[in-house]
Amino acid sequence: MWFVLASLLALSSGALSLDQLNICMDAKHHKKDPGPEGQLYLQCAPWRDNACCTANTSIEAHDDNSYLYNFNWNHCGVMSTQCKKHFTQDTCFYECSPHLGPWIQIVDQSWRKERILDVPLCKEDCHSWWEDCKNDYTCKTDWHKGWDWSSGINKCPANSKCRKWTEVYPTPQSMCEQIWSNSYLYTTHSKTSGRCMQLWFNGSNPNGKVAEYYLNNAQQHQSFALTALLLPAFASLSVMMH
Ligand SMILES: *[C@@H]1O[C@H](CO)[C@@H](O)[C@H](O)[C@H]1NC(C)=O
Ligand SMILES: *[C@@H]1O[C@H](CO)[C@@H](O)[C@H](O)[C@H]1NC(C)=O
Repeated sequence: MWFVLASLLALSSGALSLDQLNICMDAKHHKKDPGPEGQLYLQCAPWRDNACCTANTSIEAHDDNSYLYNFNWNHCGVMSTQCKKHFTQDTCFYECSPHLGPWIQIVDQSWRKERILDVPLCKEDCHSWWEDCKNDYTCKTDWHKGWDWSSGINKCPANSKCRKWTEVYPTPQSMCEQIWSNSYLYTTHSKTSGRCMQLWFNGSNPNGKVAEYYLNNAQQHQSFALTALLLPAFASLSVMMH
């Protein structure tokens, strides 16, 4: 009986981790399964070996008001090119990454069935994003909701006004966490730590190992909890059988 229980536990957690380490979320433009995409464009190119985005998505990720989300970056004057490149990178990361499994959550939204929550970002990526945008303007803290979409593109809602980036987001942390309603979690881990996800990288994708680390840690907690839950039940069962 113990052997069966142990094998079941091992099997289910093994299958779970394999799935979650190479997976595409069920959202608006993601492929069903990750795979090679030799034609990925410019800033999305680092995901060519294994991606959840198509070449089309990678091109559109670089355009204003693209067909992807029809999102208007220039809602408070034209966004600077140095700031914009971080949003392009953020789009590539969101659309292309096959390593977001540990942070995928089911949501009830018209445009997607799953989202990411609290993906731990490397400190350098969050800081350089904020530094490059800090002279830009915006009217909203959470860019996921609350826009005036009546014209077909997002405009600042009537009760808002354009303010300096640093007034809306006093710190890199407030920007990274609030801008996409906690899709990202600020961390003080650096890119070399293996404990945070990188928006910007060259060469082979470093994020698979990070996802594996977080998955294994979370799973240990789950297995302990499950064992703690099941042990008393099995103990009393064997007492009853005697
Ligand atoms: C991407 O696909 C969409 C939908 O099929 C299309 O409207 C758009 O023109 C394509 N973009 C590029 C750059 O090919
Ligand atoms: C990637 O390579 C480019 C060009 O060599 C360099 O400017 C950039 O800093 C590198 N980025 C990272 C994250 O290593």
